[in-house]
Amino acid sequence: MHFFKDHGFIDPHSSQIAPRAAYESRRDWLRQVALAAAGTTLGSFATRQAHAQAAPAGVALPGVRSTVAGALTMEKTTPRTDATSYNNFYEFGTDKSDPARHAGALKTRPWSVVVEGEVKNPRRFDLDQLMKLGAMEERVYRLRCVEGWSMVIPWVGWSLSNLIKAVEPTGNARFVQFVTLADPAQMPGLRSSVLDWPYVEALRMDEAMHPLTLLAFGMYGEVLPRQNGAPLRLVVPWKYGFKSGKSLVKIRFVEKQPRTSWEVANDSEYGFYSNVNPNVDHPRWSQATERRIGEGGLLTRKRATLMFNGYEPQVGQLYAGMDLKKYF
Ligand code: MTE
Repeated sequence: MHFFKDHGFIDPHSSQIAPRAAYESRRDWLRQVALAAAGTTLGSFATRQAHAQAAPAGVALPGVRSTVAGALTMEKTTPRTDATSYNNFYEFGTDKSDPARHAGALKTRPWSVVVEGEVKNPRRFDLDQLMKLGAMEERVYRLRCVEGWSMVIPWVGWSLSNLIKAVEPTGNARFVQFVTLADPAQMPGLRSSVLDWPYVEALRMDEAMHPLTLLAFGMYGEVLPRQNGAPLRLVVPWKYGFKSGKSLVKIRFVEKQPRTSWEVANDSEYGFYSNVNPNVDHPRWSQATERRIGEGGLLTRKRATLMFNGYEPQVGQLYAGMDLKKYF
């Protein structure tokens, strides 16, 4: 197990391969990043490691919370092998197996994220600086793709609002744009014109500030696999999956509602809001039900899709007064 290899950490359990050891090793990664991110006095890796090892299993450490209110779903998490082999990441190809096959060489260190536009403190964050802006949490969210399939994924990250508060948006900032990596040398899918590269997504400011909106650095207790958007991605659990951009390189605060890559591709099918809504069909298929990946074969009954993907109590009020049919 070499979870830390690409991220500059040393894996204290690198010689252990038994499943339990692997699980504990993943927990340690969580604890270490959480401790580092909690901004405690733990300066060195050695100190962090000592603290992590001293902590009895199951005891919460500073900054580690397993969920936020409402994020918890009791549904079974999707097997990790499914979540890491059935992906949409068009920069590596449009087939579901392309990201796992072609993203392996993506260079995720060094990595930086530029924050610009309508903010008082525009700056370039190195990945390590960025990771320390919030306390890492594990959040188990449903992920619903516009194509009609879904998963349940335990992400590791923190609310994007931590970053937004740190850069202090100006009064003109009404939308946030998320720009993802577009490097033809590393991403064979860019040769296709299926989308307008780079892949750009955006949220309204209140959506971006919502506590459920997650900046994720890991999943299943490990650093994010490349096919899932390493080294950092957005996760907006009440919207169709395409709103959650992978491998982010730029976050821009703007006044006017920006066009997104999917709107440019086809705005009658992939609107700006794209909240999960079982009552509004995609022009070419129903959105009333979904196929849970990893759950049986083709004969397995589909699940009913939930309004706002089950997060209506948390986010419904963001859209009070809006015609949700119109704002697909
Ligand atoms: N981000 C980038 N940069 N490129 C993509 O093609 N696909 C989106 C989203 N983020 C995509 C992306 C879509 S359609 C979905 S459903 C989710 O990523 C899939 O995330 P997963 O592969 O981790 O399940």
